[in-house]
Amino acid sequence: MSRAHEPSEAVAAYLQQHETKDLLRFITCGSVDDGKSTLIGRLLYETRALFADQLSALESDSRRHGTQGDAIDYALLMDGLSAEREQGITIDVAYRFFSTEKRKFIVADCPGHEQYTRNMATGASTADVAVVLVDARKGLLPQTRRHSYIVSLLGIRHVLVAVNKMDLVGYDFAVFDEIAAGYRALAEQLGIAHVQAVPLSALQGDNLLVRSAQMPWYDGPSVLEYLETVQVERAGNDVGFRLPVQWVNRPNQDFRGFAGTVAAGTVRPDDEIVALPSGRRSKVARVVTADGDLDAAGEGQAITLTLADELDVSRGDVIAAGHNPPQVSDQFAAHVLWMGEQALLPGRPYWLKIGTRTVSASVTEIKHKIDVNTQEPLAAKHLELNEVGYCNLYLDQPVPFEAYADNRTLGGFILIDRQSNATVAAGTLDFALRRAGNIHWQHLDVDKTARARIKGQQPRCLWFTGLSGSGKSTIANLVDKRLHAMGYHTFILDGDNVRHGLNKDLGFTDEDRVENIRRVAEVAKLMSDAGLIVLVSFISPFRAERRMARDLFAPGEFVEVYIDTPLEVAEQRDVKGLYAKARAGQLRNFTGIDSPYEVPEAAELSLDTVDESAERLAQRVIDYLLD
Ligand code: ADX
Repeated sequence: MSRAHEPSEAVAAYLQQHETKDLLRFITCGSVDDGKSTLIGRLLYETRALFADQLSALESDSRRHGTQGDAIDYALLMDGLSAEREQGITIDVAYRFFSTEKRKFIVADCPGHEQYTRNMATGASTADVAVVLVDARKGLLPQTRRHSYIVSLLGIRHVLVAVNKMDLVGYDFAVFDEIAAGYRALAEQLGIAHVQAVPLSALQGDNLLVRSAQMPWYDGPSVLEYLETVQVERAGNDVGFRLPVQWVNRPNQDFRGFAGTVAAGTVRPDDEIVALPSGRRSKVARVVTADGDLDAAGEGQAITLTLADELDVSRGDVIAAGHNPPQVSDQFAAHVLWMGEQALLPGRPYWLKIGTRTVSASVTEIKHKIDVNTQEPLAAKHLELNEVGYCNLYLDQPVPFEAYADNRTLGGFILIDRQSNATVAAGTLDFALRRAGNIHWQHLDVDKTARARIKGQQPRCLWFTGLSGSGKSTIANLVDKRLHAMGYHTFILDGDNVRHGLNKDLGFTDEDRVENIRRVAEVAKLMSDAGLIVLVSFISPFRAERRMARDLFAPGEFVEVYIDTPLEVAEQRDVKGLYAKARAGQLRNFTGIDSPYEVPEAAELSLDTVDESAERLAQRVIDYLLD
């Protein structure tokens, strides 16, 4: 074992060695200082499953950093990152492995700080059991409720409530009993079916591996006994086979295999399958693995399938049992756990990753957010860091899916910010919205090209962005006048004007601005489909929505024109007197004052209004167009 230094090597070796034993995955969660690291450190140490080199490091570390005198500081075992030693907190999910005679275990240690909910969600999404730590002196904390909510949201049905530090409350039954009862009430609210409360002292070892003589009033299992014996229900055999395709393996003309990890069910040669979303059917020819062909493969196994027919299957598709395949849809009701620093705004596009597939998606509506302390639904226009919302989701293409409650792999997803590529949410699909399948695309015979041809022009979208009072409308108006004089068919969409009609229900919060731009971008797109040259003059302060607008158009059709006027200059001009009002506190969320403007990074044209006249700048736009 000591040779296995590479984590992946170590994991593989570990799994191999214990292949025949039952595997339990669990997570630990709790507030900082609940003693979580000590609990796991001690479990690992006492089950003698430590890697030899880790063990000797521990002994010398304890002497250097030790907070426990000459005794071993078990908490030091758990800090995967050196940052913890410096800051005294754990800041990432650390996966640990250990085993006993009865079972092998993978434990995800999740930090307690609120800002690390993301890590907790990561750990919880694959776990069967959650160990929720509670400090006996403190009882159930908001953090306990938050974590338990996430545990239930992510489908964990078994919770061990570890009431720790019993030694510090004199091993008092009444203290334990009150906490255990409180947690059972919480679990009932959350729909967590199975709860076992264990009174313990991780530090002293009471009820950790063996039952403690200090608490004769407790006749339940120790923590380890519970983990060794808890029966977690896994999906039965009647669940259909599902293989999200990770990659297409085509080493030569004669072999074409679809590789991935079986998400559910069993597959055998000759089984009828259907490839989704295409719906094409075939039969399994071979089930191939690194160790040769198999007669059958089941959940969790990495395999390569070859099929009897040449089907066009690509990465992200799902190969499923022909007799009960998953559904395919592009609109869902879903829970979203928001982990982004910036709020989730309905209408803004994000990448959505489900199984092995990545598509573009946006939240069309937040039905409500959920108070994670009381489970109450609350009205919400956006979701902030660590908030959970029940939302309608719209994907730009249909995906095979299952309700998260039925299949975590095909029902769980993450959202990724398109600018920063950071993971900003974890979510669970509930069901497909019924309207999804009922709206079809109507084919029209007179198309965009025909409409543009009759006007003798190429459709374009000239998108003017910049601060209020920067000169967008002035320049757009000049461009429009000249194009019109030259015989082009144009139209101007101006922020102030559109806000009098189509968008008169919208204000200036971030979410309203997103919706404002979404609508006007769609209108501009329709106008370009009509063959027009459209000039859009909106502040459009966010990069994400300008990009969304751009993505609606064919390459080269969208021309972003940044009207580059410094805030001081726009404020000095203050044509409408709005800056003065905003400074006086009479106008909230004013762009540049108390609402952000994100300067374009790659606009086709950037026009400096300080050094050049509006007429000359308008001419530059025309020159660019005619080029
Ligand atoms: S956007 O940010 O959603 O793109 P839009 O271009 O439609 O804004 O509207 C901006 C115009 O609304 C400004 O030119 C200004 O006349 C007016 N306005 C009123 N309140 C505000 C505000 N809080 N922030 C910016 N513009 C405002």
